[in-house]
Amino acid sequence: MTLAEATADDLERLDVSRADLWEKNAWRPYFAKLREEEPVSYCPESLFGPYWSITRYDDIVAVEADPETFSSSWEHGGIVIFDMQDTGVQLRMFIAMDDPEHAEKRKGVAPAVAPSEIAKLSDALRQRTADILDSLPVGETFDWVHSVSIPLTTAMIATLFDFPWDERHKLPEWSDWAAKIDIGPDPVLNAEREKHVFEMAARFREIYDERRAAPPKGDLLSMMAHAESFGDMDEQRFIGAIALLLVGGNDTTRNSMSGLIERINLFPDAWAKVKADPAGLASGAATETIRLQTPIAHMRRTATRDVELGGKTIRKGDKVILWYNSANRDEAVFPDGDRWDPERENSRRHLSFGYGIHRCLGARLAELQLSTLIEEMAKRDMEVKIVGEPERLPSCFTNGYEHINVTMSRSDG
Ligand code: HEM
Repeated sequence: MTLAEATADDLERLDVSRADLWEKNAWRPYFAKLREEEPVSYCPESLFGPYWSITRYDDIVAVEADPETFSSSWEHGGIVIFDMQDTGVQLRMFIAMDDPEHAEKRKGVAPAVAPSEIAKLSDALRQRTADILDSLPVGETFDWVHSVSIPLTTAMIATLFDFPWDERHKLPEWSDWAAKIDIGPDPVLNAEREKHVFEMAARFREIYDERRAAPPKGDLLSMMAHAESFGDMDEQRFIGAIALLLVGGNDTTRNSMSGLIERINLFPDAWAKVKADPAGLASGAATETIRLQTPIAHMRRTATRDVELGGKTIRKGDKVILWYNSANRDEAVFPDGDRWDPERENSRRHLSFGYGIHRCLGARLAELQLSTLIEEMAKRDMEVKIVGEPERLPSCFTNGYEHINVTMSRSDG
C-alpha cells in the first residue's frame, strides 16, 4: 500500500512513532496526510502502546491550553510517549508535574532565565562562539555535530550555571545519561545511569551550597539557591530541577545548531541573504531553524477525563501525543511550511517551545545562542557544505543528528 492509497482505516492505524521513520527522515508525508485527513487519530498498537496523535496546530494549542484535562504529571506516565514509571531512578522534574507544584517550582527558576538576565550573558556567548568557529579546520572534512553543536551547547550551559569551566565536559555526559528514560528495566544500564545521575547531583549540590552561602549573583544556580521555593526542596526534586535545566537545554540547542547546517545547504539563496544582512535576518533565521528542526518532536499528555477533540472521544487515561513537528508545518498557519524563510512574518508562532503553562523557559537563551552563531558565521562569510548524508537519531522524541560531515570555507578578514 502506498501512502496515497491509504484509507481512513489505514490512517487510524498509522504508527508515526516508528524509529525508522525518524532515522530515515521519512516522516513528512505521513504527517501531511494525517493533518489533512485524520488530524486526531488513534494508533491502537505501537512499541509504546496505544496513543492518540494530534497533528494540527489549533488542536495542539487547545490541548495545551487545558492542562487540567490533559495532564503532564509523571504520576500518569509523564511527558513523553514512553511511560516514565517504567524506568529505574526517578527524576522529579517540574516539566512532568501539574499545577500547583509545577507553578511553584517554575517560579523559582523563571527569574534567572528572564530576557533581561539572558541579555547579560550575550558577550560571553559571543566570545565562546567566535572561539569555536575560529578553531575549525578550513578545507578538511569534519563533523559539525561534534566540533560545533556539542561544544557550543556545553559552553552555553556552563555559562548559564557559571559551572567550573575545566569540568564542563561532564555536562553533556550527565545530561545524556539523565535523558535516557527509555532504557527499560535493564539492571546494568539502570545502575550506570544512576551512577551518573548521582554524581551530577552531588557536584551540583556542592556548588549550590557554596552559592547559597555567598551573596546572590546572576547565574542560574545562585538565583535558584536564593529563591524561596527551592530552599526546602527534597533531594529528588533538587536533582529533577537540575536535570531538567541540563537536559532541556542540551539536545535541543545542539540539534538546532545542527539543523541550521542542513537548512543552509537546502536553501543557499536564503543563506546568501542572511549573510548580506545579518543584523536584519539572523534572528528570523534562528527562529525558522527552530521551527523547522523542531528539536523536541512531541510532548505527551494524559487525559484525566473523557473529552471530545476533533470529533473523536478521547478516554480518561489515554495517551495524547502532541506532534510539534507537524503543527510547525500546518498549511493553515505556515504556507509552504517546509521552506526555510528567515523573512517569514509569523515564524515566531511555531510550537517548538510548546505552549501555555509549560512553555519552554530556555527559549530566549536558545534563540540568542543560535542567532549569535548565525551572526558570527555571517561575519566570517562561512560556507558549510554537507558531505554525504547526515546521520540521524532513531527517535520520535529527540529530533536530531548523530553526525553531519561537512567542509567549510571562511574568510579571515
Ligand atoms: C531550541 C532549544 C529548545 C527547545 C526546542 C525546547 C523545547 C521545549 C519544549 C517543547 C518544552 C515543553 C513545552 C510544553 O510542554 O508546552 C520545554 C520546556 C522546558 N525547557 Fe526547553 N527547549 C529548548 C531550550 C531550552 C534551554 C536552553 C533550557 C534551559 C536553559 C530549557 C529549559 C526548559 C525548561 C526548564 C522547561 C520546563 C518548563 C515547564 O515545565 O514549565 N529549554 N522546552
